[in-house]
Amino acid sequence: MVDGREAMTSRTFFDVVLNQRATRQFAERAVDDSLIELCLEAAIHAPSAENLQPWVFVVVRDAGLRSKVGQLTRRAWRGGGRQHSANRLPPALLHEVDLGADGGIESAPVIIVVGGDAAIGLESTLPSSVYPATQNLLLAATSLGLGSAMTTLATLFADELREVLELPPAVVPMAVVPIGWPTRPPGPPRRLPLRERAHRDRYGAPWS
Ligand SMILES: Cc1cc2nc3c(=O)[nH]c(=O)nc-3n(C[C@H](O)[C@H](O)[C@H](O)COP(=O)(O)O)c2cc1C
Repeated sequence: MVDGREAMTSRTFFDVVLNQRATRQFAERAVDDSLIELCLEAAIHAPSAENLQPWVFVVVRDAGLRSKVGQLTRRAWRGGGRQHSANRLPPALLHEVDLGADGGIESAPVIIVVGGDAAIGLESTLPSSVYPATQNLLLAATSLGLGSAMTTLATLFADELREVLELPPAVVPMAVVPIGWPTRPPGPPRRLPLRERAHRDRYGAPWS
């Protein structure tokens, strides 16, 4: 078994952050709770508005529940999401999201459903408080050699997700993050060059 704390120090921050990518297909190999706990520890060290820490993590291992969450993803994708995105997504990404929606996400041994508790957090800053924690979760998974993905399709069916996971009404499901060992190396991320998005002093003045 991989020792989490050893693995945690085996990759540098920039190695992790520059190689973090979505994984949507997972090997049939268990992920120990100790690794999931490291990911959750990283998540809860994120910043949040007024330090209210309104995040909620439901760690779903039960195969029946994972399947139900996966079915919600598939329903959202096949029931309109795909049609909505198809003409904007490059074919390779469309194919990857297809694979995730058609069984890939539920094949992960762990699915973490990330929510925001509106009874704790300010409504206006709930998403901006919860997503940094989700990003920490993704980065921690990458640093441990685990595959993961930020997904939101299933959250379109918030009430169904609440019912499946018995979430209280105040908890807003915000992300569904499958975690497991990837079936293949993810390859380099596809990102625009920095100069296309960064400006110096004023918008339009090139950064470099
Ligand atoms: C707000 C948000 C929502 C996303 N929702 C989904 C989703 O529902 N399903 C999915 O397969 N990927 C989802 N993604 C993952 C993106 O497709 C992915 O981050 C992007 O294509 C970059 O690809 P890479 O991680 O392979 O570099 C989402 C990402 C973000 C930031």
